[in-house]
Amino acid sequence: MEEFSEEELNRQSKIENRKSKIKRGLSTGLIGSEIHLFEDVISTNEVAKGFASEGKKEGTVIISESQSKGKGRAGRSWLSPKGVGIYLSVILKPNIPSADVSQLTLVAGVAAAQAIEDVSRLLVSIKWPNDLMIGKKKLGGILLETGSTGSTLNYVIIGIGINVNTDISSFTQEVRSTATSIKDEKGVSLKRIRLIRRLLERLDDWYEIYISGGIGDVIEAWSDLSNTLNHHIVVTSSDRITKGVAVGISHNGALLVKQADGCVEEVMEGDVTRT
Ligand code: BTN
Repeated sequence: MEEFSEEELNRQSKIENRKSKIKRGLSTGLIGSEIHLFEDVISTNEVAKGFASEGKKEGTVIISESQSKGKGRAGRSWLSPKGVGIYLSVILKPNIPSADVSQLTLVAGVAAAQAIEDVSRLLVSIKWPNDLMIGKKKLGGILLETGSTGSTLNYVIIGIGINVNTDISSFTQEVRSTATSIKDEKGVSLKRIRLIRRLLERLDDWYEIYISGGIGDVIEAWSDLSNTLNHHIVVTSSDRITKGVAVGISHNGALLVKQADGCVEEVMEGDVTRT
């Protein structure tokens, strides 16, 4: 039989304790049916991808207290200091065409924004495509990754990062000027477990709405939360710059930008600046 040191046993019992606290009173059908909690991983999305390819079921959630190489959008990194933020990934296996996969970014954005509002009472908005904002500062983000064989979508990983009790003043000046945390906004700490539970519940609800009724209701809720629509913007993508007014999002999550000549351009990726 394997022997563990006292330190290791303590560590394991802390993790089990946290896991049962999250599960206690969790009222979800699918999301969180299995929860894996870690102290430190490279990236919860990486762990989730490994689990998904080993056949772990839809709804499995991976949470870590810290990430040594948390990933952000467009190859950026996601600062993930220990014990203060939420670093969480969910394995989904929707029966949808690969072309529709970005719709899940909208599902996750709405769920995360509403969960943060529920628990913190802060006003959260979404900056296209997936930034969770308080005013002009970023509080969290969503990173979608997929696994496919040919044109068949095997799984989707929704990775969510939220600065909860993060001390933003410990970050570099560059990050400080654009990022915030719930604690920085409210001046008091928030119990991360409450927010994790609410996040899983909101995701469970919105995923169910999406799977049973399509993207329509999600787009309506996303549009209400958006701080991008109906504004003059510039979108900087890898291959072009698009200027105009953000007039809507398409059914697959692309931003519709009406340019000065009246043409509406569909932008699939990029960074938005309001002008
Ligand atoms: C963004 O750039 O806005 C997306 C940030 C996504 C960060 C989360 S933290 C949990 C999951 N694991 C990762 O490595 N990234 C996502």
